[in-house]
Amino acid sequence: MHVLTGQTLSFTADPGQRPDPYIHHEKGAVVIGDDGKILWVGELVTLPQEYHELDRTDHGESLILPGFVDAHLHFPQYRMIAAYGENLLDWLERYTFPEEMRYGDPKFAKRAAKLFIDELFNHGITSCLAFSTIHPEALDALFEEAQSRSMAMISGKSKMDCNAPSGLTDTPQSGYDQSRELINKWHGVDRLQYAITPRFAVTSSEPQLEMTGALKREYPDMVFQTHLSENQAEIEAVATAFPWSQDYTDVYDRYGLLSERAFFAHGIHLSERELSRLSEAGASIVHCPTSNNFLGSGLFRYKQTRFGEQPVSVGIGCDIGGGTSFSMLATLRDAYVVSQLVGKRITAFEAFYLATLGNASLLHLDHEIGTLDAGKVADIVVLDPKATPIMAERHALSESLHDILFALMIMGDDRAVRQVWVNGKLVKDI
Ligand code: GUN
Ligand code: ZN
Repeated sequence: MHVLTGQTLSFTADPGQRPDPYIHHEKGAVVIGDDGKILWVGELVTLPQEYHELDRTDHGESLILPGFVDAHLHFPQYRMIAAYGENLLDWLERYTFPEEMRYGDPKFAKRAAKLFIDELFNHGITSCLAFSTIHPEALDALFEEAQSRSMAMISGKSKMDCNAPSGLTDTPQSGYDQSRELINKWHGVDRLQYAITPRFAVTSSEPQLEMTGALKREYPDMVFQTHLSENQAEIEAVATAFPWSQDYTDVYDRYGLLSERAFFAHGIHLSERELSRLSEAGASIVHCPTSNNFLGSGLFRYKQTRFGEQPVSVGIGCDIGGGTSFSMLATLRDAYVVSQLVGKRITAFEAFYLATLGNASLLHLDHEIGTLDAGKVADIVVLDPKATPIMAERHALSESLHDILFALMIMGDDRAVRQVWVNGKLVKDI
């Protein structure tokens, strides 16, 4: 057992909808149990006697938060961050597909999985919804590594049967069969969940989408993830490939792929009709701001989408390797900058909510993670607002909790991630 002391912060609801829905203890404490769960959280002065003699780490003014949850990124893309592509389709062809091809080699995938999860933890991301490649071996490697670290991870073998190089395609039948085998092997094992994962409508034929719909009907509660409406040329390619469709969203809709457990990365250029269908279905868009900026894809209207006439749930993801950083702080910074550019700025509270309880609730993981509550799994990140000399000087001027959080997300990166705990185990300590 272990006690962490510092400023504890945990959200209870979305700050975009209600003022100040969080619990904050300036001098707080979290007790981590031997079973990997949080035993107690509160003001340090009220720490029960029975915990007084436990080992303690005093984090001073640092913030103790639930670990970050990332709702969209790609395991096989971390080696090709910062590839100089023209736009999405060019970048996929020139850099992404050749890199993903390598993951058919189990040895390569195993080494990559270790580095990938090291990097997630280094940035305080303690759980995620991730894409893998089309190779079952790559998902095995990723899940084996996540399982050995007791991490909550949702992922799936991606499906592609057209418009991708040979060596990186499956078929409607093999994609279906391999997905089912992987579901039987991994879904529900420890903290792992399978996600049905067609890459996007550009790389799946009608028969493949049909079989994906069949799989989804067999597992109606399973997470489904894909990409949607990221780039104009992509949208045109989908309109050409599916001439009967009203729009991009209609393609997925036609195969029964819109649901409350469906996660669509990007969703930048959606029409009112598409937003209305996503809203009705209870599906979520995952905002990937560093990726949208890097690939020049466009400006996602977060608040307009989340709180508009057709409100759609929105999560947030770093989208490595279209995204430029594993840092959730850098991701929140770009989300803030984009929100300014589209005329409805988000607060730091909204940003930190999204990266913790917001994403955890969308992924239906909030019974286990996303807040600091007794009984939840001890997935915890400790952030130092004075991580660098300049941040320390800036911190001296902070007058409120909002100020502290805002400076952290604008200036911070992995240097601000002081400790990370996963399932009650210390996985980063600086
Ligand atoms: N659309 C289809 N595949 C991808 C991908 O790997 N990254 C991004 N950003 N968009 C995609
Ligand atoms: Zn993606």
